[in-house]
Amino acid sequence: MARHLITSAIPYINGIKHLGNLVGSQLPADLYARFQRGRGNEVLFLCATDEHGTPAELAAARANQPVAEFCAEMHAVQADIANRFSLSFDHFGRSSSPQNHALTQHFAGKLEEAGLISEVSDKQVYSNADGRFLPDRYIEGTCPNCGYDKARGDQCENCTKQLNPVDLIDPRSAISGSTDLEVRETKHLHLRQSVLRDDLDAWIDSKTDWPVLTTSIAKKWLHDGDGLRDRGITRDLDWGIPVRKGDQDWPGMEGKVFYVWFDAPIEYIACAGEWADATGNDWERWWRTDKGADDVRYTQFMGKDNVPFHTLSFPATILGSGEPWKLVDYIKSFNFLNYDGGQFSTSQGRGVFMDQALGLLPADYWRWWLLSHAPESSDAEFTWENFQQSVNKDLADVLGNFVSRITKFCRAKFGESVPEAGEYGEQEQALIADLTTRIRAYEGYMEAMEVRKSAQELRAIWVAGNEYLQSAAPWVTFKTDPDRAAAQVRLGLNLIRLYAVLSAPFIPTASADMLAAMQSDDTAWPDDVAAALSTLPGGHEFTVPEVLFAKITDEQREDWQVRFAGVRD
Ligand code: MF3
Ligand code: ZN
Repeated sequence: MARHLITSAIPYINGIKHLGNLVGSQLPADLYARFQRGRGNEVLFLCATDEHGTPAELAAARANQPVAEFCAEMHAVQADIANRFSLSFDHFGRSSSPQNHALTQHFAGKLEEAGLISEVSDKQVYSNADGRFLPDRYIEGTCPNCGYDKARGDQCENCTKQLNPVDLIDPRSAISGSTDLEVRETKHLHLRQSVLRDDLDAWIDSKTDWPVLTTSIAKKWLHDGDGLRDRGITRDLDWGIPVRKGDQDWPGMEGKVFYVWFDAPIEYIACAGEWADATGNDWERWWRTDKGADDVRYTQFMGKDNVPFHTLSFPATILGSGEPWKLVDYIKSFNFLNYDGGQFSTSQGRGVFMDQALGLLPADYWRWWLLSHAPESSDAEFTWENFQQSVNKDLADVLGNFVSRITKFCRAKFGESVPEAGEYGEQEQALIADLTTRIRAYEGYMEAMEVRKSAQELRAIWVAGNEYLQSAAPWVTFKTDPDRAAAQVRLGLNLIRLYAVLSAPFIPTASADMLAAMQSDDTAWPDDVAAALSTLPGGHEFTVPEVLFAKITDEQREDWQVRFAGVRD
């Protein structure tokens, strides 16, 4: 039995995620976790909320809440939505957990012992009215290049010029609008990533099986002009993990916290600790190669914007610590999903957000569309027409119709138990051979995390059953040879159970409904397809399930199109 550690990039706390975020990390990670569990492997699947940083502070301020309270509430909201999307995390943690505080401080201490931390004096803008240092992008002013009056301290949105806050004409706080700003001297810790450059380079080079999207981004950051610069890992903020080395104070760093991108990936480890504390399990056998994690296969899922942090920064933390922590074995990254001719936008509320999606249709509908259109080789686009078509054809016409036809026909002619009579003949053997080939291909794609190809193969497996039913035509054979029809129907009912097992990673709720209708809890993976299609014996009782998937009507589609065109209210 193989052991799989699987993590999804941890979503920011400050708001509900849109479908583009979902398909870029949590959903494909869930697909893979469910598949590996289905194959009988041991899986630890972790995710969490990413709770620190200025955006969280500002979102809390907008909501008129203390930031800790805001985060606790938003965590519960995101956990509930994840649950309703059937995301099967073993633990959905919080980067603000005590476990992550301790571990982040531990890593900082180890990095310092290894000589990988330097203290750097910086000049930074302080806002007297806000009583805080302002991160570059929270300073606004007039662009010295084009005159745009809402340029940000890191970049002008209008002419795209990279800026420093001191370049801005008439700078003001983007938080309060105050112009009472001053430049203050402040000290920060830098992680000397550049020292680890050759180690990281060699490590990336050894990953010959990684997706090109992942390695090309990593290589670009390693080798481009300012690639792998030392980076600041502390901030002058209130909300975050206090800067300490292990459990010791860090003189000169009082009142500062670690930068959110330093502590967030460490939460992957701390999250296992949270899980272990909650369940009485051992987390080190998943994370420490000296404590049993050397046979773990660790896979991370994320959008392409997250790749530099996972290929360079976090590995630098791990390697630099000099301790035997597990490094990632495979990074599956995704391009972006666009929405109906534009981009999904959290700030503009454009597109469909996870909570809204569940208000329209159950999770399986979205899961199927998103996964079967995952932005793997390029960016992809969500359109309502495409969504309607794919749900109506794949889910309603192909799978749903198959299940309904065979169960209803059986009930009408043989009653609600699997017919006993007849034997599987040539036609059934041909189907078994075809399905065997297809199921082996499906396994291969799933194992390789080729998400779109997996979906296509699964659909082809559903289609094969439909075609069999169409040509076997038990409703015709029944008139002249009822025993033959009985065998055909028996095969059809067994196919429903087989489909439930194979489809569960994509559409877990419908799969559970199919199994429940077949009154079976046998979810064994079909290593032997012939045996799998004889699992339900003659006489085994079943029920006709409710409609598995309803079609999306043109009126619904048009209504939704209009409703989601504008800004989220
Ligand atoms: N919160 C980040 C995002 O949504 C992802 C953090 S992933 C981790 O883009 F590695 F930092 F945990
Ligand atoms: Zn400009």
